[in-house]
Amino acid sequence: MIQLKHVDFSYGDTPVLKDVSFRVESGEAVVIMGPSGSGKSTILRLILGLERPQSGDVFIHGENIADMKEKKKREIRKRIGMVFQDGALFDSLTVGENVGYYLLEHTRMSWEAISEKASEILDVVGLDADEVGDKLPEQLSGGMQRRVAIGRALLSTNPQIMLYDEPTTGLDPRAAHKVVDLITKLHRQRGICTIAVTHQIADAFLIADRFIVIHDGKVVFDGGFLELRDCVDQQVVDFLAPFRESFEQVARRKFVNTQ
Ligand SMILES: Nc1ncnc2c1ncn2[C@@H]1O[C@H](COP(=O)(O)OP(=O)(O)O)[C@@H](O)[C@H]1O
Ligand SMILES: [Mg+2]
Repeated sequence: MIQLKHVDFSYGDTPVLKDVSFRVESGEAVVIMGPSGSGKSTILRLILGLERPQSGDVFIHGENIADMKEKKKREIRKRIGMVFQDGALFDSLTVGENVGYYLLEHTRMSWEAISEKASEILDVVGLDADEVGDKLPEQLSGGMQRRVAIGRALLSTNPQIMLYDEPTTGLDPRAAHKVVDLITKLHRQRGICTIAVTHQIADAFLIADRFIVIHDGKVVFDGGFLELRDCVDQQVVDFLAPFRESFEQVARRKFVNTQ
């Protein structure tokens, strides 16, 4: 579904990604972890074709993004839902208008029809359209805003791939839990290929079965939970050190019957 092959990327003279390679198959859920500034958001921008690698290739459905014309790129982006780090809702539009924005801009559907679709999607993300549809984003909690952003991505593109950048950062544990549940539900029930960037390790374990750790722009780990737990690479060990305890907790929960 998605493949990065020997990708080098710099912003100007500042190298960000070095020889990054990994692939994500359809239906998979993968979490990308790593310290702040390690290049995680940049990876998502490359997958969307918003940035272009200086060398190496990014393939979506086997096609190289670098070779695509703008029109084709837009087609591809339609199949990818992106939830940006801060939710990035339009402040001056209502929740319903935010969710229906793509249809408002790009189709001739009546507002009534769009509004109905927006209500359905709000229901999917666990919000009541009657309650929140006419509110402005600022009148909602951070967790609800994040779910609206996910709803907007779903309605815009009917995506086969969802990319989430730090979907739970800044949320209280309950709100974070709801967002994680939603991401998991979309992955499991709709088979949406999922890539989430997070350094909330507990959330990472709920969202994915495979983990990619980036350090200084390089992939230092790519594998499953137990391999991650037992990994002896010093950069991985250092990155995980603050989370060891939650790690062991999850390990006990996850593998209580298998080990
Ligand atoms: N538009 C930009 N122009 C220049 N440098 C950038 C830009 N965006 C990010 N960077 C730099 O690239 C590095 C990686 O950024 P990013 O991919 O956002 O990291 P992460 O998401 O892992 O925190 C950081 O050092 C950041 O300061
Ligand atoms: Mg980031």
